[in-house]
Amino acid sequence: MLEDENRLWYRDAIFYEIPVRSYYDSNRDGIGDFLGLTQKLDYIKSIGIDCIWLLPFYKSPLKDDGYDISDFYSILPEYGTIEDFDLFLEEAHRRKIRVIADLVLNHVSDQHPWFIEARKSRNNPKRDWFVWSDTMDRYKDARIIFIDTERSNWTWDQNTGQYYWHRFYSHQPDLNYDNPEVREEIKKVIRFWLSRGLDGFRCDAVPYLFEREGTNCENLPETHAFFKEIRRMVDDEFPGTVLLAEANQWPTEAKKYFGNEDEFHMAFNFPLMPRIFIALAKEDSYPIQNIIKQTVPVPPTCDWGVFLRNHDELTLEMVTDEERDIMFSEYAKLPKMRLNLGIRRRLSPLVDADRYILELLHGLIMALPGSPIFYYGDEINMGDNIFLGDRNGVRTPMQWSFDRNAGFSAADPEMLYAPVITNANYHYEFLNVEAQSRLPSSFLNWFRKAVSVRKKNSLVLGRGDIEFLETGNRKVLAFLRSYDSEKMLCIFNLSRDPTNAQLDLRKYAGWTPEESFSRVPFPKIGELPYFFTMPRHSFFWMNLSPPGDGN
Ligand code: GLC
Ligand code: CA
Repeated sequence: MLEDENRLWYRDAIFYEIPVRSYYDSNRDGIGDFLGLTQKLDYIKSIGIDCIWLLPFYKSPLKDDGYDISDFYSILPEYGTIEDFDLFLEEAHRRKIRVIADLVLNHVSDQHPWFIEARKSRNNPKRDWFVWSDTMDRYKDARIIFIDTERSNWTWDQNTGQYYWHRFYSHQPDLNYDNPEVREEIKKVIRFWLSRGLDGFRCDAVPYLFEREGTNCENLPETHAFFKEIRRMVDDEFPGTVLLAEANQWPTEAKKYFGNEDEFHMAFNFPLMPRIFIALAKEDSYPIQNIIKQTVPVPPTCDWGVFLRNHDELTLEMVTDEERDIMFSEYAKLPKMRLNLGIRRRLSPLVDADRYILELLHGLIMALPGSPIFYYGDEINMGDNIFLGDRNGVRTPMQWSFDRNAGFSAADPEMLYAPVITNANYHYEFLNVEAQSRLPSSFLNWFRKAVSVRKKNSLVLGRGDIEFLETGNRKVLAFLRSYDSEKMLCIFNLSRDPTNAQLDLRKYAGWTPEESFSRVPFPKIGELPYFFTMPRHSFFWMNLSPPGDGN
């Protein structure tokens, strides 16, 4: 673990999500690996990342890209050895980059020896590590999550004549958390990886650990109690460990994962994410204001992880039917772009690679309360491939250069785990890290700059309060972030046309706004409404300095 006197580092940090398989292949087998990832740490540092989130890298038959684990204690051989992992961690820490990893604790692969044992006979000692039933009638109120592939949360086991329970794919049997042996084993897994030096976990699918009749089997008190126990354990044995919850829920339920500062340090702000896209589609600031008011504030040592995209489909489970319709009609015009209740596209294609919108969205996600979590490749506006199945279209090889295989691998192209993107609009020959690094005006260089500005303001943007300001124009979102005497005014034109806004800033009469990227001073605030003229899809971050402060 990286030692730091800043105990709240995660509130100020920039996170970056990486699938080992997709990043860089060091041994020409067409699959990314830990040694490859280690070689790219300088790049990761160069874009300003403080903490890497690694997708599952454990032994797995890869039917759900590693979220189907068959051995919690070993690394998938294609990704390297445990020594490679240790070296990666050491090199990351040497660069002051932290690393958290996915902890998939709700379920295992049906190839896991525990399940292979359990399905041997009804009185096998591992039988009770899973959830069994004679009928499909139990826990009827639990929804099905992967609605495109699964008909039921129960699957029949021919050999023992019972059904087993699974919230995700039928090849992912749920562990039985009512069994104390299971709870102890998962603690062992946590200890194993933390003692190798990990800085924390992104805990997968947390709402679903326990099942109780007559409930929807999500967010149960037993589940919260278990995570509180885990939190106590890591606080005692590995102080400084950060726990980040994946709980795709409505705001009131999602917030509960912070507990009384005794459960998760962080949780993804799932409620916010789709509402950013809705606000953009409707050119209306209300959906963002409304959801921030429902999700903020959080307890002082906790924070949201805010994100635009990740390795999954853009989920639309926790939105209204009307909101979902808007999302589908605006962002998923072809049926192939949809998956389950979501949209399986990358960020740039979602917005037609529109540079104005991409900057606007990044400006927004780095200014709203929470720590930004970026998805690999989005810093160069990578494209996707909707003709690959499941969510694989957003998991294609990272585009490093215009060399063979986008510089991702020296293998024959046929050997790659997935083809690189070669369509005319997102071709790796021009859309890659090397090309964008050389071009001062590239998105990558803009991204680096934006991240560095955010880091200069990491206290006010990372920890500050938020106050929404009246703009007299619903297309414009404006808010003030404040931390002690530091103040930042952030203003966004969500519309496709130029517009203007008038802010009542009388409270700050005599203060001077300074544009945060350029440090160009703007006119001093007075008694009259403060006027902004804004090009389409644009934003300003402004530091406010008090009177007498060199003004
Ligand atoms: C989480 C992961 C997703 C995976 C699922 C089942 O939602 O983000 O990729 O398929 O859990 O493990
Ligand atoms: Ca490899």
